[in-house]
Amino acid sequence: MSDSLERLIDSQKPILTPIWFGIEMSINKSTIKDYDDFSKVNLFFNPNSIAVVGASKHINKAGNVIFSNFAENKRRGIFKGEIYPINPKDESILGHRCYPSLTKVPGNIDAIVIVVPSKFVPDVFHDAGTKGVSVAIVITAGFGEIGNDELENEIKNIAKEFGIRVLGPNCLGVFDSYTGVDTLFLPETKVLKTGDVMVATPRPMQGNIAMVSQSGAFGAASLDYLTGRQIGISKFVSFGNKADVSEAEILHYLNHDDNTRAILLYIESITQGRQFMDVAKVVTKSKPIAVLKSGRTKAGARAAESHTGSISGASAVYDAAFSQIGVMKSDNMSEFFNIGKGLAFQPPAKGRNVAIITDAGGPGVMASDACELRGIDVKLFSDETINKFEKLKKKGILPNFVQNTNPVDLTGSATSEMFEEAMNIVVADNEINGIIIIGLHHVPAIQEDFVDRIGKVAAGTIKPIVACDIGETEMAFYVRSRFEKFGIPAYPAPEDTVQAMAALVWYGEYLKNSNCFDSYLDSFLTSSVNKVNMKK
Ligand code: COA
Repeated sequence: MSDSLERLIDSQKPILTPIWFGIEMSINKSTIKDYDDFSKVNLFFNPNSIAVVGASKHINKAGNVIFSNFAENKRRGIFKGEIYPINPKDESILGHRCYPSLTKVPGNIDAIVIVVPSKFVPDVFHDAGTKGVSVAIVITAGFGEIGNDELENEIKNIAKEFGIRVLGPNCLGVFDSYTGVDTLFLPETKVLKTGDVMVATPRPMQGNIAMVSQSGAFGAASLDYLTGRQIGISKFVSFGNKADVSEAEILHYLNHDDNTRAILLYIESITQGRQFMDVAKVVTKSKPIAVLKSGRTKAGARAAESHTGSISGASAVYDAAFSQIGVMKSDNMSEFFNIGKGLAFQPPAKGRNVAIITDAGGPGVMASDACELRGIDVKLFSDETINKFEKLKKKGILPNFVQNTNPVDLTGSATSEMFEEAMNIVVADNEINGIIIIGLHHVPAIQEDFVDRIGKVAAGTIKPIVACDIGETEMAFYVRSRFEKFGIPAYPAPEDTVQAMAALVWYGEYLKNSNCFDSYLDSFLTSSVNKVNMKK
């Protein structure tokens, strides 16, 4: 057994032992109770006033980008609180009066962002304590992750003395698409040497996925990816070294966040295993958590150790734990986002039998393969359903060469109306638990209204529906985004689409086994977040 695995198992023994014997774990209620007072954690996302310590006039400096984010969001009316730049060298920054230290600010300060070199951070915490600051986001690197535990402990102790909650250090902090908090020091645009301006780190639109990341760099890249894929987010949290606030506490907070429907979690290690297990087990009963856990191989674990100083531990240990508590593991980045989008947009499946409707034979076969490989059934339709298709053929509504045994292949003669007819039939079939649309836009009679017709039928069912259109040019982008306007997650490959459906099947089974499928479905269908997604 490797040294790191031994350490991991040792640190998690009380939790992991029952898993090996398949015994239901008990929930440590005290952990959850500890996190029940959100009043301070909420200030990371929704402060009435925030100061940026190390705000700078110099473009390209982290303190410049962060303060500019707040100034711009305030100007646009998105961030509604007070903002204070702190820097002893300046009188004003971006038109806002600048203060030499936190103690000189006249009003109250709920939150601070610290973006000064590490050696100054303890003094900033002393000032923050004197000023009565509630929460601090420490962007600065150079603490525990490089072995400087002494400095990290020093700020931890000062923070504890004054009751300041800390996110980081060594993190990107928070982006909240609803409140306009944006502590990311990565500029949204970059000016090329040619003078052209390019979007570099876009901020995603409002949505209902929360992205929580141990790695700031992957977190930032994922914002770029999510924006490009037009996936909105509620919150982004990069927690870095976790000197105080851990992933468990953030998960607990997000469980009570009305804007968050699904949680995406990137981690390299979990340091407080018991807390994580206790909290995640509760959260997954009401919100799905998809995890991408890296550091799964020897080389990956070594890289993680030098990245965040974390002990990654054995894959098998994590996999067993995740599956026990209903956390969905993904094997790679694209699966992570595919299933995140599926879970945020669609309700879980009541069973594992799906129907595939396509106008593209080959991709329909690819989807069928992918389903079977993931344990999803694509069973032959019942006689009743097959007869309904046959009747439509007799009436001339469907061509007689349409395949209607599952998959339904409408062929290259497909029309928008045929998709609607096929949808109506499979939605009415009680043996079908989910629907996969492989709707390629290339065939001649397909117009964009085929999506609207599918969307209309989808709005009347609680069965999960996912869609695929293959292509990287205009019409494919348009069709996929049109599906998503109806709350139907759409993907560029059959396999991606099936990953999303597999997650909805897996999560449905987990909820059923936990006796909370109906309550989850109820809250899914009635939640205000749902209005974003059209499935009313
Ligand atoms: N109070 C207020 N302002 C202070 C200060 C204090 N106690 N001490 C210094 N400052 C000011 C400086 O004067 C400077 O302002 P200026 O630009 O007007 O001169 C500003 O704060 C920043 O200090 P500077 O020394 O220029 O540092 P920097 O901007 O080069 O680097 C960090 C600061 C925090 C970005 C850097 O130390 C760091 O940690 N970088 C890595 C960050 C990272 O990767 N985090 C993890 C992400 S996942």
